[in-house]
Amino acid sequence: FFSSNETIILPCDSKGIEKAVQLIRGGYPVGLPTETVYGLAADAFSGEAVARIYQAKGRPSFNPLIVHIAHIEQAAEIVEFNDEALSLAQKFWPGALTMVLPLKKDAKIASIVTAGLDTVAIRMPSHPVMRQVIKAFGHPLAAPSANKSGSISPTTALHVKESLNGKIAAVLDGGIADKGLESTIIYVGADEIKLLRPGPITSEELAQSSPLPITEYKADGQNPVAPGQLVSHYAPSQPVRLNISQKEADEWLIGFGDIAGDDNLSPSGDLTEAAAHLFSALHRGEKSAYPRIAIAPIPLEGIGKAINDRLGRAAAPRDEQNTSQR
Ligand code: TXA
Ligand code: MG
Repeated sequence: FFSSNETIILPCDSKGIEKAVQLIRGGYPVGLPTETVYGLAADAFSGEAVARIYQAKGRPSFNPLIVHIAHIEQAAEIVEFNDEALSLAQKFWPGALTMVLPLKKDAKIASIVTAGLDTVAIRMPSHPVMRQVIKAFGHPLAAPSANKSGSISPTTALHVKESLNGKIAAVLDGGIADKGLESTIIYVGADEIKLLRPGPITSEELAQSSPLPITEYKADGQNPVAPGQLVSHYAPSQPVRLNISQKEADEWLIGFGDIAGDDNLSPSGDLTEAAAHLFSALHRGEKSAYPRIAIAPIPLEGIGKAINDRLGRAAAPRDEQNTSQR
């Protein structure tokens, strides 16, 4: 399939979709659009195909992947739903909610997908192209974000190509990922919900839809339950400073609302718009000639919590353990 060592950007027509499915059938991971960020997808039943995802990303092997399905019956073959998980699935799927649930004994998921855990993270994406590919392929797809491990997540096909050029055969261009932040990840137990990663579905929305208490899981950095919780993550190559209203001369300022900046996540101060623009803005900052990046304060409410979570990781010190994830 590799005609050159350049990653091909496939147009999102029937031929492009067919080519993507063909590559996945052949065991080659392909960059695919989702409503959150672009994913690097492979057959979740094939350990060999999934190993190529880890290889292309340079991802630590202990970091498990999310399984993407197109309909609820596909999920029921893989995980044990409790009543609460089923009701949340009915409420939020298809969409940006990932649930960590017990793996069924006879599930065909390759063990490399879960990194040997007895749980699996699963979600039903809403992006029509992603859904079409899953349906055409017929099996669930394992897919992490389609970027080098530890770097900024991709919200366009070009971001994917720039991050993984030559390491994957192709990326299917489905336009801009409109949520712009990775899915919310929760663990759904019998008497509580644990928020493992904040995202587009806010804890307020979850609380409105579920009687269970929601606890925010804090990773200890050493033994990440959701290893996306590694402290340094989503990081541009330059150092990042947060909550800045007045930039210094050598800084590229990413503004918000009235703080204009060199770039602005949302001049009107809209948090959903800011989330959608966040990773593109970090990519632009990384490409700017400035040696440092500064970012305006983002309110800690609603999806602003997820934005601040990603920013905190982008700005975190990059020590031995964390830089080895990059
Ligand atoms: O929006 C998204 O979720 C995107 C798109 C492509 O769907 N995917 C994504 O995948 O963000 P990734 O691999 O970058 O993040 C997956 C997160 C990691 O933090 C991983 O540790 C966690 O999910 N995870 C996967 N399986 C898990 C499990 N069994 N228990 C706990 N956390 C798990
Ligand atoms: Mg990621």
